[in-house]
Amino acid sequence: MVKNSSEVLFNAIAPIYGIFFDYQRRQFNRSLEQAKTRLDLSKYQSILDVGCGTGALCFVLHENGLSVTGIDPAAGMLKIAKRKLTGHNISLLQASVLEPLPFADKSFDVTIASFVAHGLKPDERRKMYHEMSRLSRSKVLIYDYNQKRSPLTTLLEWLEQGDYFRFIKHAESEMVNCLSDLKQCFSSVEVVHTTGQASFYICTPQN
Ligand SMILES: C[S@@+](CC[C@H](N)C(=O)[O-])C[C@H]1O[C@@H](n2cnc3c(N)ncnc32)[C@H](O)[C@@H]1O
Repeated sequence: MVKNSSEVLFNAIAPIYGIFFDYQRRQFNRSLEQAKTRLDLSKYQSILDVGCGTGALCFVLHENGLSVTGIDPAAGMLKIAKRKLTGHNISLLQASVLEPLPFADKSFDVTIASFVAHGLKPDERRKMYHEMSRLSRSKVLIYDYNQKRSPLTTLLEWLEQGDYFRFIKHAESEMVNCLSDLKQCFSSVEVVHTTGQASFYICTPQN
């Protein structure tokens, strides 16, 4: 399988990501707590973490009582996730959300993608929204940057050469337009800001 530049990048930085596993767990717990009044995960049983990376969010979701599956195309990220999640009943699979994932329609109550969307091109993001919508019974959660910027994030995202700068400007309208353009992504999008530079984009999938 030919590796794209994102896979090469994430395979290379996976060990650094792994160092921040516990920090990330604390951050995810804090963000979920802040969003709790609008996003109550205790109502759900199963969740797919798209672009799970080294597995910190999988860990937190599992701690919250959810049955968790994580997918990521970067073997290096998954290798660390497998190590960090040893002993926990969490399924991990090497796969890209840009290809049809090997799950039947509406296989999960919720799908979530944390800090994946801003690294994809607009047409790839639409593919991701569509695929997550296909797989979700109740909610699609995009957890990603909002328009608050810090100099460090600006530098890192410039180095990553993803789509951060366009994403933060157009994220919400893009998700809404995905509905009107394609009639196949979401029937509603609600934005819940957490402190700092990230927001939950809480989307209701098309049936
Ligand atoms: C910035 S990292 C975020 C990792 C993790 N979600 C987190 O919040 O710590 C982006 C992740 O998205 C993954 N990714 C990139 N392209 C993807 C795709 N097409 N399908 C699924 N995951 C992808 C990368 O391999 C990487 O692990």
